[in-house]
Amino acid sequence: MPVIVPESAILLENLRKAYVSELNGHARYEEFAAKAEGEGWHGVACLFRAAAIAEQIHADNHGQILRQLGGEMDFAPHPVNSGITLENLRTAVAGEVFEVDILYPSFVDQARQCRDEAVERTYTWALEAEKAHARLFNEALARMELEDEESWITLADGFYVCPGCGYTTEQQHEAEACRICNCGWTRFGVVR
Ligand code: FE2
Ligand code: FE2
Ligand code: FE2
Repeated sequence: MPVIVPESAILLENLRKAYVSELNGHARYEEFAAKAEGEGWHGVACLFRAAAIAEQIHADNHGQILRQLGGEMDFAPHPVNSGITLENLRTAVAGEVFEVDILYPSFVDQARQCRDEAVERTYTWALEAEKAHARLFNEALARMELEDEESWITLADGFYVCPGCGYTTEQQHEAEACRICNCGWTRFGVVR
């Protein structure tokens, strides 16, 4: 007889997977940032640091609900496989595209089926922030492949991170409030 898994159990399992994935993402980008800094790609290092902070915000948002629902919070980090920065950017793009195209859309659908608005919202915020990461990592990768060393990838430019949803942008002042979670722009953190 097939085992029927209740939707609520899948909801909790997905939330834990998302939480663990974001914590691993945070650790991976911290390591990639150190590598990029060592190779002189200061702008790319800033972007990895900003994305690392954003992934931690996603983990915290997911983790807060996971805890409220009584889910498993134990976390054993994956070892980070770090290469040269060009390879690390390809890894980052692939990871962000997977989250944008597959992981978060399927998790959002499942949360909707369970009519859990808090879970749906934490996924939607992460999904929208990952779109910005995918765009920024793609641009960095394209510039590096073109050996465009006169561009932002070598400069220690700042990136701005929303403390509510992890939205990440290179724009110093984009709007009065975050386009994803409506957090006031003055609360955004600058990462250099
Ligand atoms: Fe994330
Ligand atoms: Fe991301
Ligand atoms: Fe936000």
